Amino acid sequence: MNTNEVCNLINISSKSLRVYEDYGIVIPKREKNNYRNYSKDDLLKLRTVKLLKELGFSLRDIKVLIDNNNCSSTQFIRSLYLQSKAIERKIYELKNIKSTLTKSIDKILVSKKDDIENNYFINDIDTILKENKSNRKQWVDMWGFDNKAVKFDKMVRDRSNDELGLFEKYDDILIKVRNEIIKYGAKKVIDIGCGTGNLCGELSGSIEVLGIDQSLEMILQAKNKYSNMNLKLGNFLYKPFQKNYFDIVVTTYAFHSLNHEEKKKAINNMLEYLNDDGKIIIIDFMFVNNKEKDKCREKLLSENKNQLWDVINNKYYTILDEFKNHITMLGYKIRTDHIINFTWLVEIEK
Ligand SMILES: C[S@@+](CC[C@H](N)C(=O)[O-])C[C@H]1O[C@@H](n2cnc3c(N)ncnc32)[C@H](O)[C@@H]1O
Repeated sequence: MNTNEVCNLINISSKSLRVYEDYGIVIPKREKNNYRNYSKDDLLKLRTVKLLKELGFSLRDIKVLIDNNNCSSTQFIRSLYLQSKAIERKIYELKNIKSTLTKSIDKILVSKKDDIENNYFINDIDTILKENKSNRKQWVDMWGFDNKAVKFDKMVRDRSNDELGLFEKYDDILIKVRNEIIKYGAKKVIDIGCGTGNLCGELSGSIEVLGIDQSLEMILQAKNKYSNMNLKLGNFLYKPFQKNYFDIVVTTYAFHSLNHEEKKKAINNMLEYLNDDGKIIIIDFMFVNNKEKDKCREKLLSENKNQLWDVINNKYYTILDEFKNHITMLGYKIRTDHIINFTWLVEIEK
């Protein structure tokens, strides 16, 4: 394919083609008359280069990625993943800054001159900039699941390292949920925070199952074990890509990564995924009410088990009475069942 044809086909300028050639990224063969002749491989590379440029990669990085791409597809997907997470993080930070600025404007509009001289609104911006900076270290994978992925399956089954009994009866509980899905006659299931696919992987041969997770490494583990399973990078908080479609939206041991407000957003999204006869199944760590949470804290602290309390307090265990109120106010039915230790089953129906 000659230069003109390539430019037209992938909507790229001949100047860009020359730059990529100078950088050694895509070097087409030359005909006898010295005209360039782009192969199918060159076209594929050019498409990738275009995408990477849009994602914000520098040409130097693109060259490394393109060169590496020949050796391993997983390496390549990981690079894309990192870039997309970086962009996600940037959007989050910019949104934070924008909402702080808007709030400051509102404050200034209602304040007296003295308040403005106190510069408190500048402190707000400083605080948010500092927060953004300090949180930046954890943007890649908020709860470190990328790092835990390889050992995750072993970890949930290792009773010696689980003093709180968080994953006690893990396999039995997943079997119970799988049976529930089968009994319900579900044909289309979405598992959010699917991790390494332990819940739905086994169902993927017989019914349509989609697993989504925010951690690429967890998804790659699932893909390794269950090659038939449909998997997708995603998040509880992203707008549903398929509405009114699934018979069951299920999530196990993942809901506690969301704070109170995020849980509300996630529930709205889960309801949107669901068809009219469908139901949501949540398995997760919960407290009946705040009193029970306080009692747990007092007990652990009195036994000098501060670190165990930190394990609980660093996440967002659902407070069931508040959660039940929220769901009922939305007009949905909710059923709860205590399973073991901190683990509860919650079912929500339209
Ligand atoms: C403890 S693991 C549980 C995995 C699996 N559900 C299971 O039962 O084995 C929690 C999973 O939730 C995922 N996760 C956490 N926050 C998430 C979010 N906001 N959106 C999507 N997945 C999330 C993590 O990446 C991780 O894979």
